[in-house]
Amino acid sequence: MLPFLLTFCKKNNIILFSDRGSDIMQKPKGTYDIFGKKADQMLYFRKLAEALMNKYNAKYFETPIFESSELFHRGVGETTDIVSKETYDFKDRGDRNLTLRPEGTAGIVRCFIENKLYAENLPLKAWYFGPMFRYERPQAGRQREFYQFGLEVFGTYDPMMDAEVISILVNLFKLIGLKGIRVNINTLGDKESRENYRTALISYFKPYLNDLCDDCQKRFEKNPLRILDCKVDSGKEIMKNAPKMTDYLNDESREHFDKVKRYLEALDIDYVVNPSIVRGLDYYTHTVFEVEADIEGFGSQNVLGAGGRYNNLVENIGGPSTAGVGFAIGVERLLLALEMENIDISEPSNPEIYVFSVGDEAKIKAASLVNSLRLSGFDVEMDYNGRNLKSNFKNADRLGAKYIIIIGDEEINTKVLTIKDNVTKEEYKVSVDDLLEFLDEKLGVHDEH
Ligand code: HAM
Repeated sequence: MLPFLLTFCKKNNIILFSDRGSDIMQKPKGTYDIFGKKADQMLYFRKLAEALMNKYNAKYFETPIFESSELFHRGVGETTDIVSKETYDFKDRGDRNLTLRPEGTAGIVRCFIENKLYAENLPLKAWYFGPMFRYERPQAGRQREFYQFGLEVFGTYDPMMDAEVISILVNLFKLIGLKGIRVNINTLGDKESRENYRTALISYFKPYLNDLCDDCQKRFEKNPLRILDCKVDSGKEIMKNAPKMTDYLNDESREHFDKVKRYLEALDIDYVVNPSIVRGLDYYTHTVFEVEADIEGFGSQNVLGAGGRYNNLVENIGGPSTAGVGFAIGVERLLLALEMENIDISEPSNPEIYVFSVGDEAKIKAASLVNSLRLSGFDVEMDYNGRNLKSNFKNADRLGAKYIIIIGDEEINTKVLTIKDNVTKEEYKVSVDDLLEFLDEKLGVHDEH
């Protein structure tokens, strides 16, 4: 009876009460809740990234999660998969065409131009950390909402900066302890070299047009370089014999790439030149790179971070001609790689102190004590639920608290607190006036007092 009823309802568009429930009780496909260990790891990674960015004099930027759709069309490129198939587009109530950002570079470039940051001291290094959205087929390491940590550098054509940007990625992975990585680099040359290459690709692919997928036939007209990035045609023999960018570089582009390689060697970065890297975004010029997880069983979504130089993007979006280069790391993918390598980067976030009270008056004193301890810089949790003695000790254990403070009538009258070391189980009697000194001695001096 039940299966028949379900089919009948489905056919007639009748929504059963339980169907509605399951819709709102489930996260959208390709998205994840972040809490517990994952949340600790993400926070820790962000802290690490921030500390590293300070060492390079990079400044934190936050731009809107949605921008005008036009920005991504012009920035990332009309013919890319990201813009043509993967964006979350919507109209707001004012009939504006908006898009959830699929990546961070275009928004930072828009911010750079709109706020006339090009008039300030350059190079400017801007880092960001936040969610991006792409309508992709979800699988391990590929989500529809995912976090990127990225860096964009504006205002220098120096090949040293290409190498520095790549080295930041590698240094970050080293700092975390991730050894299994491979750095692939390539060059797409300047405008002139790309134009020469485009002509070569058109004459190469023309006789094979019917062998290419429908999308590639459109790409052939608009942007033949995108054919090389096609997921459908990638295994075909015609792809393997396609002309290589490196054969169409002009002297200036070749010299730029040679210098990048020399700087990489000076920075002790192992790399492989991989001519098949064209990247899935249109804005690149000169150096492009992808850092892969070289970990057995990692799966096909193994590019942990990627980027490149984009000397025409600021101008294409409407700003003054300004060089740019940057990278972005997929945070969840990186955490996946760390999990596979058994590297735990989270910091314990247990409370240092657990406070519980016995009796109503004692609870008010406990609330006041907990407040002042927190303001003095200690991580403190208390009992809100009036647990009994045994269950309070159990709770302190579960929370991983190092010290337990107990407040009852006697403690209020004598102004002497009972403090238990939850590891050694030693018990101390400490006067309220000496409490901070005692805790500093046991837990280390906290900055806030
Ligand atoms: P991208 O290669 O599209 O480049 O993305 C950078 C990284 O984000 C990827 O290497 C991957 O780790 C992660 N990522 C991308 N898509 C997904 C997804 N669906 N699920 C999980 N992780 C994903 C960019 O976005 C450029 N804006 C990078 C850049 C900055 N170039 C210059 N500056």
